[in-house]
Amino acid sequence: MQADPQRYTVTAALPYANGPVHIGHLAGVYLPADIYVRYLRAAGRDVKFICGSDEHGVPITIRAQKEGVTPQQVVDKYNAIIRDSFQDFGISFDIYSRTSSKTHAEVASGFFRKLYEEGKFIEQTSQQYYDEKADQFLADRYIVGTCPNCGNENAYGDQCERCGSSLSPTELINPHSMLSGNQPVLRETKHWYLPLDQYEPWLREWIVEGHKADWKANVYGQCKSWIDQGLHPRAVTRDLDWGVPVPVEGAEGKVLYVWFDAPIGYISATKELLPDTWETYWKDAGTKLVHFIGKDNIVFHCIIFPAMLKAHGDYILPDNVPANEFLNLEGDKISTSRNWAVWLHEYLQDFPGKADVLRYVLCANAPENKDNDFTWKDFQARNNNELVANLGNFVNRAVVLTHKFFEGKVPAAAELQDIDREVLAQLAEFPQRIGELIENYRFRDALNELMNLTRAGNKYLAETEPWKLIKTDEARTGTVLHVALQLAAGLVTLLEPFLPTAAATLGTMLRVGKGSWQQAGRADALTAGQQIGAAALLFDKIEDATVEAQVQKLLDTKKANEMANAVTAPAKEDVSFEQFQSMDLRVGTVVAAEKVAKTKKLLKLTVNTGLDERTIVSGIAEFFIPEALVGQQVLVLLNLAPREIKGIQSQGMLLLAEDADGTLQLMQPGQAVKPGSFVA
Ligand code: MF3
Ligand code: ZN
Repeated sequence: MQADPQRYTVTAALPYANGPVHIGHLAGVYLPADIYVRYLRAAGRDVKFICGSDEHGVPITIRAQKEGVTPQQVVDKYNAIIRDSFQDFGISFDIYSRTSSKTHAEVASGFFRKLYEEGKFIEQTSQQYYDEKADQFLADRYIVGTCPNCGNENAYGDQCERCGSSLSPTELINPHSMLSGNQPVLRETKHWYLPLDQYEPWLREWIVEGHKADWKANVYGQCKSWIDQGLHPRAVTRDLDWGVPVPVEGAEGKVLYVWFDAPIGYISATKELLPDTWETYWKDAGTKLVHFIGKDNIVFHCIIFPAMLKAHGDYILPDNVPANEFLNLEGDKISTSRNWAVWLHEYLQDFPGKADVLRYVLCANAPENKDNDFTWKDFQARNNNELVANLGNFVNRAVVLTHKFFEGKVPAAAELQDIDREVLAQLAEFPQRIGELIENYRFRDALNELMNLTRAGNKYLAETEPWKLIKTDEARTGTVLHVALQLAAGLVTLLEPFLPTAAATLGTMLRVGKGSWQQAGRADALTAGQQIGAAALLFDKIEDATVEAQVQKLLDTKKANEMANAVTAPAKEDVSFEQFQSMDLRVGTVVAAEKVAKTKKLLKLTVNTGLDERTIVSGIAEFFIPEALVGQQVLVLLNLAPREIKGIQSQGMLLLAEDADGTLQLMQPGQAVKPGSFVA
């Protein structure tokens, strides 16, 4: 680990501009990166925070094709949505660029050319699938077929999403093109490969020996297992018409592979930001380079991109790659295609002004070492119990009491007692303690420590009871509030990386700006006699109904997915007309209905069949209120052999329609008919 760098280059994975961003993105990558950068800035470090949209690659061309628009239209649309979401959540990039920019095309081409000219690539022809009807080579993702490992019929040319195995297109059984549906043919094509195998000894030394101690266990573990399995040459060009054209002769119709061009996007964006000085942020050994990513990006950032940088020769390598695990949503994997996500832009429509609440919850529950689950109940509980009852309550009491007893002027501190000194001593330790956790990428723990500080503040007020003390000892009350206000003022700086909006509101309330991190523990931000601003609520309670509505939204999504995916059961075997006629199907009228005691699903119905009034037990209690059934006509199979259900003789069976999600409906005649009429 680089101990005392002169400057930092911090990157956050470039999101694909083929969909909006959701809570998983924020929790896994952008929020921890933002906390890290805001902290470094407060600590007076020279830091550049780099991001942008990843606008090439096959997922984008596929999306364009599905929506009937051009790839450029797709990336324009989502780049704007993503950029706005990041801004609304306070992700404080120094630049948010795009890999479709002119600078990027130049930088990425230049990078490729240098490696090409220095003979760092292998040139190789191979057989690849070609769609004769669409007249183009098929990228892996454009080929579907049966997985040789698990039999999934919808496996892609590069991966089976059911069993997770990574595939090559020629391994697929019965491959067909997503463009035309036709069976593709094999054709010869030339590509350039980065011989990763040649970098294996160096990678092993750099990662396995060099970073075992300071990289996160999940990151180190994945890298080690990749290297141990042996590295192979990897194609860095593709036959595709969307991307950075391969800048050498004889490469018409070919573009750089998206995972070759995208990470170079970090460099191009830095160059756009700092046309004159960008090189110090990428080439000077005093620069500490940190990549924030999700776990699905580990191999690209720890093996392939470093090998590219090494091959190029001019660049520094990442000091750390703090990848997070995944965040699930209400027990299920977040999925764009299943719309199982909380989209950032939608969250802000439903919770205007509450970006910080989500930042808080996602950091407190960040998937740092294992996959974690986001639930709306937890979101509500953390808001109400931690932000409102702990942090908000502490600040509010200090400010409100200062207005009430001292006309809004910071009271002077008389002689300090032990209890005052203790709480101030705690404050004094916090900048360093939280800073160390942040520098070690332990953002959850850092936030938890911060909440311990506000907890200590609340405890201090609860023990000193200034609201009672004022009746007997005004000077002592002043001291207590002085101490509490200094604590609150320290929070303006300490909170800022985590909750920038709340920190700014608190700063306005106390009329202090955010100061340097190192001095946030000094308890001297406020001077006795200084006027403070009006109290404002930092957070307010989130009601049950509000989160229930969010849960309902997800249940609706789940139901829509089930309906869309439901497969119609195959046809049954033929029956003869005689077999059918042997069934006595009639219309009846319900005359009484009640729940069967101690069951959830069963109703006991009394049905007038025209012949008699008989008892029928039916499993429809979840879908009907008994009273509402009385008077309804139903279709009944009369001659189903009687059977005993929960001690009741059931004589016949109701005919029902069962929807894809299991909901039941009564089958009824379109108009009332005489009970006992045949159904045939
Ligand atoms: N677009 C990729 C993803 O969303 C990440 C690209 S990161 C970069 O998984 F290094 F390539 F920029
Ligand atoms: Zn499979």
